[in-house]
Amino acid sequence: MTPDQLKKTIGAIPDYPKPGITFRDITPLLQDREAFAAAIDLFAERYRDSGITQIAAIEARGFIFGAALAKQIGCGVTLLRKPGKLPGATVSQSYQLEYGEDSLEMRADSLNSNDNVLIVDDLLATGGTAEAAAILIKKAKAVIVEAAFLVSLNDLPGEQKLQQQGVACYTLCRF
Ligand code: PRP
Ligand code: MG
Repeated sequence: MTPDQLKKTIGAIPDYPKPGITFRDITPLLQDREAFAAAIDLFAERYRDSGITQIAAIEARGFIFGAALAKQIGCGVTLLRKPGKLPGATVSQSYQLEYGEDSLEMRADSLNSNDNVLIVDDLLATGGTAEAAAILIKKAKAVIVEAAFLVSLNDLPGEQKLQQQGVACYTLCRF
């Protein structure tokens, strides 16, 4: 399955969560075993043999793709979680939402300067979430190889935000 074929398995929900917004729905892709496998295979083709030691997977939907890809390319999974979910010492980074803010947390002992890390999430929109992920990984002095997304939204500044962090993006499906 090509990225264009994959794109057709992503749903579009008009006026959700509010009027004028088209929600890109990954649930049909996940339920289609060929499409889900193809998405992981396309990522794996790019990242196999690239020396990635950890995938930093962003809660919640990033866990789905991050874990499957880690199995395929043979690396670990570092969880970047919503606040209060991880045991032990953590590092935290807040980011802006449309209204208010949220934050991501990572265990303080999970990465170090020997790690080559791939950030994985399902979707890049404003880039606030992925930028927070990049800042957390930098705090641990690990190397960020790239950030990989199933979907990027062209009319939002996610890629520019990551570029400002010096992080390159790879996206399978653009809308
Ligand atoms: C969604 C999506 C990305 C993020 C992208 O997650 O899965 O993680 O928003 O938005 P941004 O680029 O504007 O930061 P969300 O936190 O809504 O929900 P989830 O826990 O289901 O992944
Ligand atoms: Mg998410």
